[in-house]
Parts: sequence; structure tokens; C-alpha cells
Amino acid sequence: ACPEQLSGRRLVVSAGGTHEPIDPVRFIGNRSSGRQGVAIASAAAARGADVVLIAANISPEVLAPLGESTAAPGAGTARIVEAPTALDMEAAVRSEASSADAVVMAAAVADFRPSHPGISKIKKHRLADGAGPATGGADEAVGPAGGPAPIELVANPDILAGLVADPPQPGQLIVGFAAETGDEEGDALAHGAAKARRKGAHLLAVNAVGDGRGFGDVPNAVVVLDPQGAEVARGEGTKAEVAELLLDLIAERLPR
Ligand code: C5P
Repeated sequence: ACPEQLSGRRLVVSAGGTHEPIDPVRFIGNRSSGRQGVAIASAAAARGADVVLIAANISPEVLAPLGESTAAPGAGTARIVEAPTALDMEAAVRSEASSADAVVMAAAVADFRPSHPGISKIKKHRLADGAGPATGGADEAVGPAGGPAPIELVANPDILAGLVADPPQPGQLIVGFAAETGDEEGDALAHGAAKARRKGAHLLAVNAVGDGRGFGDVPNAVVVLDPQGAEVARGEGTKAEVAELLLDLIAERLPR
């Protein structure tokens, strides 16, 4: 078989952006569409892999190519597991990863979640006079002085770092993504290299966003780093082309 083929390999890919509930109707979220992760899952299935996509709030239009990719001759399979919140995603990734050869974390996972999501819709009326601080589970969005109630946040687990520290399957390949911007403290690549060392993933695909210097000018440009922060490969193109680049790197690193 061609070395870049993935027949019989099992891949877990996370994609989309998590929604962290404030109450039953509101959430803290992000703008991730899930397109890059779906492109990776689709390209892997087209190469023969059996793929599980852990999907955080991805629209049906964005998900559609995944089903199409399994129809071609020689293609593998694809299964979608919905994981709307960071905690859902952690549970789904850990359980699905226990039988995976590689895990690609392309999802935008919220770093924080409301510590006590309201059990019913929080009301904005009933302004305080001595109503006291909004407490956990309360349905009144009223702060101590009658202003808007603060939303207390707690840290979510870092799923990627958890996989690196305690791999569900020994020897599996763990791949992360990082969208970085440049600022006065350093450029996007320097931030990416620091993140690569911190997270310890076997490969970290760094996307420069809005950098204005070099690789961030291209919508889908990635530099792939190793756990020491050294450059392994770089590429640019469509999300599908970025997916193929990453899958080449993954395929050549899987044990024969
Ligand atoms: O948000 P950040 O830049 O730290 O994300 C980098 C990588 O870490 C991504 O692959 C993302 O999926 C992963 N991540 C995670 N759990 C988090 C935050 C990020 O697995 N709580």
C-alpha cells in the first residue's frame, strides 16, 4: 500500500467550537465553523481511514462533505459524535481515542465555562434593591448593586494536554492546532512554538491569523511544529490542501 494511505487506521478528529451554557438558552461560544476539522476527517476517510468526528456545534452544510467522502471506492468509514460543550468533548475524545491510532484536536475548545449555569432562563428584569449577589443556579441576572450579574467562570480541562500526559492508547499520535496572532510580545510563530512546548503534542499546526507579516496573510497557511517548537513542515492553500499536508505527516509517523 502507498505510505500515504490510511486504510485500516483509526482516526479521531475533533472539530467545531464548544458552547458553554450560561443558562438553558444562552452560552459562551466562539466563531469556529469546524471546516478545517471536517476537511481533515473527510480527507482521512478518502484515504481509507475509519474516522470518528467529535463535532461541537457544526452546521449540517459544513458536515456534508464527510458523508460524501466515504462513498468513493477504497474509502473508509466516518461516524459523527456530537459534543457541544468542552466537558462533553473531553468525555467523547477520551472514550473514542482509546482505540485510535491518531487523534487530531482541531476543535476550538473554550478555555472557561460558567461555573453555575442557570437551571432556568435568567431574567433581566427585577432590578435589585438589596437582592444580593446572583448565586449559583439563580435565575435573576442581578448583581450586588443592582447592575448586571457577573458570570463566574471556571477553567475547562485542556483536552489535548490531557491526551499527551495520559494517552488513552499507548503510542498513538496526538496532533493539535493553534490559531495565533502576532503582537508586540512576539510573532505568531513564536507564540506557536511556546504553545508546542507547553502542550507537548507530537505535531502542532500553527495558523497565523491577522498577523500581517508573512504567513498570516494567506487564509489557510500553517506551520507544523514538533514538541520542541521546531518547524517540521509548512504549507498553504485551501483547507482541503492543509488537510492533505497534515495527513501526509501523520501517515509517515504511524507505525508500519
Ligand atoms: O486554545 P488553544 O490555542 O490552547 O488550543 C490549542 C490546541 O489545544 C487545539 O488543538 C485545541 O483543540 C486544544 N485544546 C484542548 N482543550 C482546551 C483548549 C484547547 O484540547 N481546553
